[in-house]
Formats: sequence, structure tokens, C-alpha cells
Amino acid sequence: QRRYSIAVIPGDGIGKEVMPEGTRALEAAASAHGFEVDLQWHDFASCDYYAKHGQMMPDDWKDRIGKVDAIFFGAVGWPDTVPDHISLWQSLLQFRREFDQYVNLRPVRLMPGVPCPLAGRKPGDIDFWVVRENTEGEYSSVGGHMFPGTEREIVIQETVMTRHGVDRVLRYAFDLATKRERKHVTSATKSNGIAITMPFWDKRVEAIGAEYPGVTHDKYHIDILTAQFVMNPQRFDVVVASNLFGDILSDLGPACTGTIGVAPSGNINPDGTHPSLFEPVHGSAPDIAGKGIANPVGQIWSAAMMLEHLGEAEAAASIMRAIEETLATETGRTGDLGGKADTVSCGKAVASLIG
Ligand code: NAD
Ligand code: IPM
Ligand code: MN
Repeated sequence: QRRYSIAVIPGDGIGKEVMPEGTRALEAAASAHGFEVDLQWHDFASCDYYAKHGQMMPDDWKDRIGKVDAIFFGAVGWPDTVPDHISLWQSLLQFRREFDQYVNLRPVRLMPGVPCPLAGRKPGDIDFWVVRENTEGEYSSVGGHMFPGTEREIVIQETVMTRHGVDRVLRYAFDLATKRERKHVTSATKSNGIAITMPFWDKRVEAIGAEYPGVTHDKYHIDILTAQFVMNPQRFDVVVASNLFGDILSDLGPACTGTIGVAPSGNINPDGTHPSLFEPVHGSAPDIAGKGIANPVGQIWSAAMMLEHLGEAEAAASIMRAIEETLATETGRTGDLGGKADTVSCGKAVASLIG
């Protein structure tokens, strides 16, 4: 029997509420499609763990989760107790870097029956992928803080782009486009204002694009690209961007489909040298945590992406059908989409439709 070992890390806030719905779907898919999931739950990478241990993760975290088939992650961050830059740099951002998950893959899709905040848009009009560079770029630890607390205080944080790092994420985006009907890549930069790193990215887009004669591409400056996401979302097929721009676009895209609560992501190590990590795009949402109202679909859709990655395409497709059916009804949708469901009732509705 096929069996997958999965590290399950709920994290903080609504991460702890949506994760049980993610694993409910996962277990339903496993039993319907004839495989097993060995779920290993971990309490680290959370601010509760930090309160007990003074750090976000045990020293041997890599040994504990480095050999699993995949990591299923909720959300981390509780700024009232641990500053965000500490909680995130000691957890999620470590996973992405140390496990070389250099692609952050984030689908954006308007689902049937879901009220769209953009007037006149129907399913099919908004259906694209954001491919975000996930290990370098603006999220760099190169920099410094000098003369703190004085009037001469200086802070510097460099953007780091390597040819190796840029080329491999661009190739991933172009490869993805070859599998899509429209075979189009849009690249986001800001080469008019940020005149060293961004033109370099543009040049690599031309070089890698030349390797893919069957794929068309265009380039936008990030400012107008955000406007086009809202005004003409039907233009986009695969959108590739640096770490920071990809972060911003992958909240904006799902917001155009009604909520960030449904958006999933795969932090992928395409080389298979380390496990990949699957998590919703959203965070721990302290403003609604503990109320049982968070939308669990981002977590459940992340489970589908994880199964697809593990080679269980049919199970992934049956989760997606169950999500679509649930989101099409007011009783299935949570409050962020104007529906009447809570976290658990939405999650149970999806699980009951799997298989
Ligand atoms: P957030 O994504 O947690 O929340 C933004 C807004 O969206 C909030 O109003 C929230 O209630 C709403 N929202 C988010 N997910 C929802 C869901 N599933 N259902 C319904 N509504 C939902 O972003 P934030 O407020 O900027 O950050 C809160 C904390 O989460 C911070 O500590 C931040 O650093 C962290 N964070 C973590 C991740 C991650 O783990 N990947 C991602 C983003 C933010
Ligand atoms: C995301 C999040 C993280 C990021 C934060 C919490 C560091 O916003 O996964 O999109 O910026 O990558
Ligand atoms: Mn983000």
C-alpha cells in the first residue's frame, strides 16, 4: 500500500483551527483513493513553543522533519508575544531556505458560485498561477544596522539575486506555462526605479524565454501590474516575480477572487533534495483567531496541492471537486465569502464530498 509520511505543523492562531480541517480532507482522500498518510504532529514553529523554550524550533528540527515526504503547515505569528521578524525568520523562512524550496507556487482561481468583488467576472476569467521566487531577492540577511538610537542611525538590507537563483525559478515558470493552454508568462519587476537587480531579472527573462519558443511572455512594472490584476485579470496565465513582489501579488490575486482565505501554496523543492511544504497563503489572523470562523479552504486546497506533488493526482482532483461543490452554496461558504458556515462545518462539508 502507498504510504506517505507527513509532518503536520499547525503553528499559531487560526493555523490551529484550519489544520484539523486540512487533515480531515487528507484522511478522507487517503481512504477514498487507497493510500495511507502517516501524520506526525509537531508543536514547534509556533509562538507557544517560543514562550516555553525561548526559540521557535528545537535545535534538531532538521532531523525531525527533514526526511518526511512532505510538510503540511498552518500559519505562524503572534505579534503580541513575539515580534513577527523573529517568529517568521526562526521558522517558516528557515524551512524555505534550508530545504531549498525555491519556488512558491500560488494558484489564483475564481470558483463557480463564489461572489466576485470585481464586477462582471465569471469563473475562467480569473485563473492563473503566481510563481514566486522563495529563497533570495528582497528577503535577504545581507545588510546592517549602524549607530542604533542615534541621529546617525543607518539601516541597510540588500536585495540579492543570483543567476542560479533567478534562472531556476524562471525555468519553473516557463515549464509550468508549457503545460497550460495559453502558454504565457508575465514577469513582474520594477526596472525603471530599481536599476541594478531588476534589469538583471529582465535580462534573464529574455535568456530563459528564448529556451521556450512555444511560450510567449511579457513584462510589467509591478505598479501597473497590480492595477491590471484588478482591471484585466483575464490577461494572466503564469505570473513570475521576485520574493517580495510575488508575496504581494499572491495576496492581491486571491482578494480579486473574493477572499485570501481560500488561497493555497506549495513551497516546492523541485529537485527533491528536501521535503516541500504546503500551507495556506494567509497568516494566523489574530483578529479572528479563537472564534471558529476562519475559512479552512486555503488549508484544504493546500492538501490537494500536496497530494498532487506526491503523485496522487486523482485524490487531489477529488478534493478540488469537493471544494468547488462546497463553495458554490451559501451554507458551505464561511463568512469571509458571505456564507453561513463556520470553520468546522465547512471542513466537514468538503470531507463528506471527497471520493
Ligand atoms: P493574515 O493573513 O493573518 O490576516 C489578514 C486578514 O485576512 C485578517 O483580517 C484576517 O482575519 C483575514 N483572514 C486571513 N485568513 C483568513 C481565513 N482563513 N478566513 C477568513 N479570514 C481570513 O495577515 P496579517 O494580519 O498581516 O498577519 C497576522 C500574523 O500572521 C502576523 O504574525 C504575520 O506575520 C503572520 N503571517 C504568517 C503567514 C504564514 O505563516 N505563512 C502569512 C502571512 C502572515
Ligand atoms: C507569506 C507570508 C510570509 C512571506 C511572511 C509571514 C514572512 O506573508 O507566506 O506570504 O512574506 O513570505
Ligand atoms: Mn504573504
